[in-house]
Amino acid sequence: MPRRLSESPPPTRTAEVDSPIARIAAPVAGGLDRVDGFLTSVWEEAPNPALSQLVRHILAAGGKKLRPLLALLSADVRSVADERAVRVAAAIEILHAATLIHDDVIDHAHVRRGIPTANSIWSNSLAVLTGDYLFAKCSHVIAELDSPALDRMLARTVMRMVASETTQFSAFEQTAALEHEYYGKVRGKTASLLELCCEAGGLVGGAAAGEQQALRAYGENLGIAFQIVDDILDIAGSEEELGKPVGGDLREGTLTLPIILFLRQAPAHAAVNGLLSQEADDENAVWEAVAAIRASDAIECAYAKAWQFADLARAALTELPQSTSRTSLEMLTDYVVRRRS
Ligand code: IPE
Ligand code: IPE
Ligand code: MG
Ligand code: MG
Repeated sequence: MPRRLSESPPPTRTAEVDSPIARIAAPVAGGLDRVDGFLTSVWEEAPNPALSQLVRHILAAGGKKLRPLLALLSADVRSVADERAVRVAAAIEILHAATLIHDDVIDHAHVRRGIPTANSIWSNSLAVLTGDYLFAKCSHVIAELDSPALDRMLARTVMRMVASETTQFSAFEQTAALEHEYYGKVRGKTASLLELCCEAGGLVGGAAAGEQQALRAYGENLGIAFQIVDDILDIAGSEEELGKPVGGDLREGTLTLPIILFLRQAPAHAAVNGLLSQEADDENAVWEAVAAIRASDAIECAYAKAWQFADLARAALTELPQSTSRTSLEMLTDYVVRRRS
């Protein structure tokens, strides 16, 4: 990796006052507290105790709160983030939670945010229903803001996320095309949501058309860098720091950028190919594949790609007026690549 990973402890907002994310979040710390308050009201006001418990399970587990942070900082580029910005930020975190619950059903995941997933404690059916409730809750919060432009942005994002999750691509395609298809999928499933944070935040904050365009480009490129690093940490990270198991993508046969880059050097690697074709599903194959990819330069090459997208995100910010929030958005381009959790 051209730039060294930070040696600092896992950067969560609550864990350490002096952690990088806390410093980045400083200009909108009050807004983030109000988002937390709003999220608490979602489970407190759920229509029955069972749903309340399920909603609380995912929302109270925390997470990095990157999406509300992005929405509040984007709103703050032109004005002080107000109640509408807090609502947008909370709605997007609710949407994020809905996608995580559904993602864990799809990926057969047992641990997230350091605790067992809803599908593993209760059932796939209850997890899917909880995700559905949260999707609807997000739409409701946005609808109350009475902005057809926000409604359209939200609907377009959910359509993009779902469409990209339904696309399939295989390791047996030509390698250059494969990397291209990977970015297409990541644009839809992850970057579109970060783009929404920035665009919707900018809209409620009164950003001009050109500034909104810049925020959109920033969110998209930041989102691609963010997912590349998620895919790297799935192989090179630690469960303790991530709050989710290492090797999950290989276990599921999911093709990610570090795996694509590894296959360029070792196209016939038995464990990796066995997992991708789902002919192998044992833990020995997973750990053999993890060790081989860690020992290759695929991780370093994937980090180089993540930096390229992070740099594009940073470049998009030059269109915005100088402010503490813009500085925080700049710092986030470093954070998303250097993070360990
Ligand atoms: C996880 O997102 C899903 C991806 C898009 C990779 P985060 O890593 O932001 O999850 P939390 O919110 O911190 O748990
Ligand atoms: C992101 O991909 C999923 C969503 C956009 C919801 P992953 O499947 O890699 O996310 P994690 O690793 O489970 O958090
Ligand atoms: Mg997953
Ligand atoms: Mg992942």
